[in-house]
Amino acid sequence: PLKIATIGGGSSYTPEIVAGFISRYQDVPIKELWLVDIEAGREKLEIVGALARRMVEKAGVPMQIHLTMDREEALKDADFVTTQLRVGLLDARIQDERIPLSHGAIGQETNGFGGFMKALRTIPVVLEIAKEMERLCPNAWLINFSNPSSMVTEAVHRHSSIKCIGLCNVPIGMQRSVGEVIGDEDFFIHFLGMNHYVWGKHIYHQGREITQEILPKIIEHESTKSVVKNLKPIVWNKEFVQQLGMLPCPYHRYYYMQDDILHEELESFKDGKTRAEVVRGVEEALFEIYKNPELNEKPAELEQRGGAHYSDAACGLIRAIYTNSQEIMVVNMPNNGTIGILPDDAIIETSAMITSFGPVSLKASPLPAPAQAEILLMKTFERLTIEAAVKKDYNIAIQALTINPLTKHGAMTRVIFNELLQAHKPHLSGW
Ligand code: G6P
Ligand code: MN
Repeated sequence: PLKIATIGGGSSYTPEIVAGFISRYQDVPIKELWLVDIEAGREKLEIVGALARRMVEKAGVPMQIHLTMDREEALKDADFVTTQLRVGLLDARIQDERIPLSHGAIGQETNGFGGFMKALRTIPVVLEIAKEMERLCPNAWLINFSNPSSMVTEAVHRHSSIKCIGLCNVPIGMQRSVGEVIGDEDFFIHFLGMNHYVWGKHIYHQGREITQEILPKIIEHESTKSVVKNLKPIVWNKEFVQQLGMLPCPYHRYYYMQDDILHEELESFKDGKTRAEVVRGVEEALFEIYKNPELNEKPAELEQRGGAHYSDAACGLIRAIYTNSQEIMVVNMPNNGTIGILPDDAIIETSAMITSFGPVSLKASPLPAPAQAEILLMKTFERLTIEAAVKKDYNIAIQALTINPLTKHGAMTRVIFNELLQAHKPHLSGW
C-alpha cells in the first residue's frame, strides 16, 4: 500500500498535488497521503486538509488524508516524500525581495541575493528531513519542489544517502507554450541546463529539428510572455535569441536582461507590490476560497500562482517511477557527464528517461561556448552556496555572492548580506 508524505502540506499549492494524485489514482493507488506542517502552519493545514478530504470524497477515490505536525509519524515507511515547504513563510520571501531592492539590486525569490538567502534557510531544513528519512524510510524517493530546487537537491545528494529528484514547473510551462505555437502535440524539446537556468536546446517536430526556424515564432507568440505567472511579461529580443540558438527559460531574463528587469522591479518595490507582496494577497484570497465547504475541487484561482500545473511534474514523476514507464520527463538529477564542463555530481536540469530505479539522462551535444561559460559560473555559485549553507561560513557566502552576476560586488555585498542575515536571524541558526 502506497504511502506519500508531503512536507509543507499547509501550502496553498496542496489542492494542486491532491488533484494530481486523484487523476492518476488508477496507475498510482495511494492509500495514505500525509500532509505535514509545523505549528505555525496549523490553521492553513486544517483548511487545506479539509478541502483535500472533500476533493477525494467527490472523486470517489479511497485515498486517506492524514494531517499532522509530527513529521516522523508521516515519514515512517513512506514510499515517496514530497517537499513544498517555505522556511520563514512568505514574510521571509518579502525580506528576500525588498532588502536587495532597497539597495538597488535584483530582489527575487530564487535568483540573486533572494535565492541565495532562501538556500541558506532551506538547505539545513531539507537535510534534516533527509536524515530523518535515512532512519524512517531509507528507500523512499524524495521529490523536491522546495526552492532553490537545484541547490536543495544537490545538497541532499552530497550530504545524505536519500534518492532525491528535483522538480520545477518551468519546463512544463515552456512545453505548453511551444505546443501552442506549433499547434500539435507531435514535438519534442530536449532540455539542458540548470533549474531556473534551463534552455530548450533542440526542438524536433515531425521528424526534423526546427529549433532555428521556430525560435522567432516562439518569441513573438503571446503564450511566451506568460510561461509562468510570477514573472512580468517581458518580450525577448528576437535577434539575440536566434544568435543564442536555443530557447531560454523565462528566468534567463534576469541574466540576459538584468537592467530591464531591475527597472521594473524597482517600480513594483516603490508601490509595495513586489511579487511576494502580491502573492500574500493571492494566498489570503485562496484560503478564503478553500474555506468554502461547498468547494470540492482545485479552484481555477490557483492558476494565478507561478507554480500552476506543478502536479503534472510531481505526480507524473511519481507515476513514472512507480510504473517504470520509461517516459521522458525533465528533472533535476546528477550530471554524470551530460554537460561536459560541469562536475559529475553537479545537479543539472535535463530531459531524462524515468525508470523505477530513477532517471537516466539523454545524451546531449555540447552547449554553445557562451552557455558553457555561464553555466560553469552559475554552478560554481551554487556549489559555494551549498557549502556556505552547510558550514554556515560567512567568507564562503561572500565568495558565492561576489561571483553571482545579479548581486552587488564590493563593499555593498557585505552591507546587503549583513542586513539579510539580521532580518532572517530566527531562521538561520548557527549564523
Ligand atoms: C514558478 C517557479 C517556482 C516558483 C513559482 C513562484 O512556477 O517554477 O519554482 O516557486 O514560480 O510562484 P509565486 O506564485 O509564488 O510567485
Ligand atoms: Mn521552479
